[in-house]
Amino acid sequence: GIGFLTAVGHMCDDKRQEFILLSDTLGLSSLVDIIAHGVEEHATEWTILGPFYLPGAPWREFGDSIAESDDGAPTLVTGSVRSVDGTALGGAVLDVWQTASNGLYAVQEDAQPTGNMRGRFRADGHGRYAFRTVRPVSYAVPDDGPVGQLLRACGRHPWRAAHIHAIVSAEEHRSVTTHIFDRDNEYLESDTVFGVKDSLIEDFVPQADGSYPVEHDFVLRPVD
Ligand code: BEZ
Ligand code: FE
Repeated sequence: GIGFLTAVGHMCDDKRQEFILLSDTLGLSSLVDIIAHGVEEHATEWTILGPFYLPGAPWREFGDSIAESDDGAPTLVTGSVRSVDGTALGGAVLDVWQTASNGLYAVQEDAQPTGNMRGRFRADGHGRYAFRTVRPVSYAVPDDGPVGQLLRACGRHPWRAAHIHAIVSAEEHRSVTTHIFDRDNEYLESDTVFGVKDSLIEDFVPQADGSYPVEHDFVLRPVD
């Protein structure tokens, strides 16, 4: 066991965090989430942060695209941010990130501009937000290290259900770290990091022009 944890440590550098990956694939991160947040019925549910969040994403305007270079299926993401009592949270901030269509985050690949598939957006005065992106794809978590050995030893696959990450925050409210999942995805039942929650699954609705718009509202709890 100590040898395995030492190997996990040796796999870490400033871009690779094998310990977060280990915690996530063991289900430990999701267990901590459930213990910390309980069953949330009225506000947006949490799910895991993952190892690829990078603070300081570029600020973008309402409706802008986070895809600086990507040829995936166009997707417009829209919705509102509100408090549990229904009050619109104008000025709320959404920090969103996802992989490019090749299944890699910008932090994993030098070929992508560092701001690719990442952005911070401010909701308008009615709490409405909008951004453009591409339809998220399923991707395999890095399995070339000790975590991959563990998955294979357990007969498990390394795939994550397709998703968009978001951290949503607003004044005097608790921020939420969450995902939007695609209902039409084969890994919803077997996400390798146990991150899927029913309330976070949405329809990416196919349009005649080849785009897949999706709507998702975020609901935040006031601070105690
Ligand atoms: C992610 O969704 O970015 C992620 C989460 C856990 C492990 C690897 C990746
Ligand atoms: Fe992810």
